[in-house]
This record gives sequence, C-alpha cells and structure tokens, in this order.
Amino acid sequence: MQNCRKLPFILCLSTFVQMKKAIIIGATSGIGKSLAEIILLKGYAVGVTGRREELFQSIKTQETSKIVFKKMDVQDLSTLESTCNELVHLMGGLDLFIISAGIGDENKNLNFDVEHSVIKTNIQGFTCIADWALRYFKVQGYGHLVNISSIAGIRGNGIAPSYNATKAYQINYLEGLRINAKKYGSSITITDARPGFVDTAMAKSEGLFWVAPVQKAAEQIFEAIKQKKKVVYITKRWRLIALLLRIIPFSILKRL
Ligand SMILES: NC(=O)c1ccc[n+]([C@@H]2O[C@H](COP(=O)([O-])OP(=O)(O)OC[C@H]3O[C@@H](n4cnc5c(N)ncnc54)[C@H](OP(=O)(O)O)[C@@H]3O)[C@@H](O)[C@H]2O)c1
Repeated sequence: MQNCRKLPFILCLSTFVQMKKAIIIGATSGIGKSLAEIILLKGYAVGVTGRREELFQSIKTQETSKIVFKKMDVQDLSTLESTCNELVHLMGGLDLFIISAGIGDENKNLNFDVEHSVIKTNIQGFTCIADWALRYFKVQGYGHLVNISSIAGIRGNGIAPSYNATKAYQINYLEGLRINAKKYGSSITITDARPGFVDTAMAKSEGLFWVAPVQKAAEQIFEAIKQKKKVVYITKRWRLIALLLRIIPFSILKRL
C-alpha cells in the first residue's frame, strides 16, 4: 500500500490543504483502526500512530494519499510531543485528536509490573498526549479532543484493578480538561467515549455480553463526534449498565 509518508513533504502537504485533519493515537488495531477507516471515508486527512508499524498496512482504505503513520510508544514520554508535532507538521494542521491507545490486563495476583505498565500507558502516556492536544487547540482557538475511556471507569474491579482505576482517572481528567478549556473561552469540544465490550483483542475474557462489533462501535463514536457529545456510551444500551453500576451496593458489586 502506498502512503503519504513516502511522498516528499511538499507533495504531502498539498494533498491535505483543504481537508479536515485528524490524528488517532493507537490506530494499528481495534477501535482506533476502525475509526481511521471511517474518518478517511468522511474525507479527513488522518495521521495514525502505534508501535506495530506492520499493522498500519492493514488499514483498509482506498485513500492512501490521505494517511500518514508515525511509530509511537505512548510509554516513551520523551517522544510523544515531538511525534504529535511532526504529524501536525506533515498534515498542515489539526481539527480532531482521538486517543484510542490503551491497555488492560487481568492481574488477580497484583503483580506490580502489570499494574505499572497499565499506569504508564493509560495514565502517564494518556495525560501527556491529552495535555499536548489541549494546549495545541487552545492556541488555535478550536479543536475536538476525544478519548476512548471505558464503562469500567465507573467502579472498581478485583480482577483488573489498574484497568478500572486508570479509566476512572481518564474520565475525571477529561472533565477537568473540559473545565480548563471553557475557562479560557475557547471553542474546544471534548468527548469521552465509554465503551462496554467491543470485539477487539482487548475483550478477551470469558463471560462477556453485549459485545459490539468493532465497526458498529466506531460508527457510534464517530456519530458522537459529529454531534459534539460530551459523554457517550458505546453501544448506546451500555448507558443502562452505567446507571446500574453507579447505584449497586458494594455487597453486590463484589460478587459480579
Ligand atoms: N475492546 C473493548 O471491549 C473496550 C471496552 C472499553 C474501552 N476500550 C478502550 O478502547 C481503547 C482501544 O482498545 P481496543 O479495544 O481497540 O484494543 P486494541 O485492539 O488492543 O487496540 C489498542 C490500540 O492501542 C495501541 N497501544 C497500546 N499500547 C500502546 C503503546 N504503549 N503505545 C502506543 N500505542 C499503544 C495499540 O497499538 P500498538 O500495539 O501497535 O502499539 C492499538 O492500536 C482502549 O483504550 C481500551 O481501553 C476497549
């Protein structure tokens, strides 16, 4: 597959001039990859990242001249801002910034290495790139920041404690960023997409229910982006589970 990364910079930039521009952090698989395919079809130029460069080639698109890839490990904090800056430079601007990179692992025995890795990705990496995006949009005066958090962030989880706790952090942090953006009067939208279960490599446990096909989940997220929603449950019926999770007592939660 050809891609814009192989073109001289000036050719690349001229391809993108009139288009809206999006960056998706974590688009080599799953929800991020499906969102990249949808957003390309909607006419955006798209910059995508991930560690597995070989999987970038599997993004299904005819619009190969509208996509650029940069390798990025969100745990490597020293490289994140420069990689985002390079993508913006290549595309000639930024309208939409989506964070889909995230990990979570079962860790009943509380091995700290597992928890530490989840914290480095879902908290440290997430915070660094979300802050970068908000600072960029504040200078520009507009923009749309989207994060894929999770319904898991609503309550604790004994099997994967760091996953739920880091998703709770993301939900709270995004609210803080939304307040921060409003205080400065800028026209910035922040969308917190909270999926239930989506059929990706991440949803690998037993006993899952209402597992959404990844394309359906990505389409609903894109619809929420268009509608500039603050919070959206993916798929929509997970809103009901979110309500229940908030009110069930700990005595029931511990048995789930
Ligand atoms: N699937 C679900 O049921 C579900 C439910 C709720 C929320 N979510 C959230 O949705 C988001 C996307 O997950 P998914 O289901 O689409 O899983 P996925 O297929 O495993 O996708 C995860 C993406 O994150 C990237 N990523 C992970 N660690 C990274 C790192 N250190 N540096 C850079 N990129 C990294 C991966 O790219 P590389 O491996 O190539 O780096 C991949 O592109 C996650 O935040 C997840 O928590 C998923």
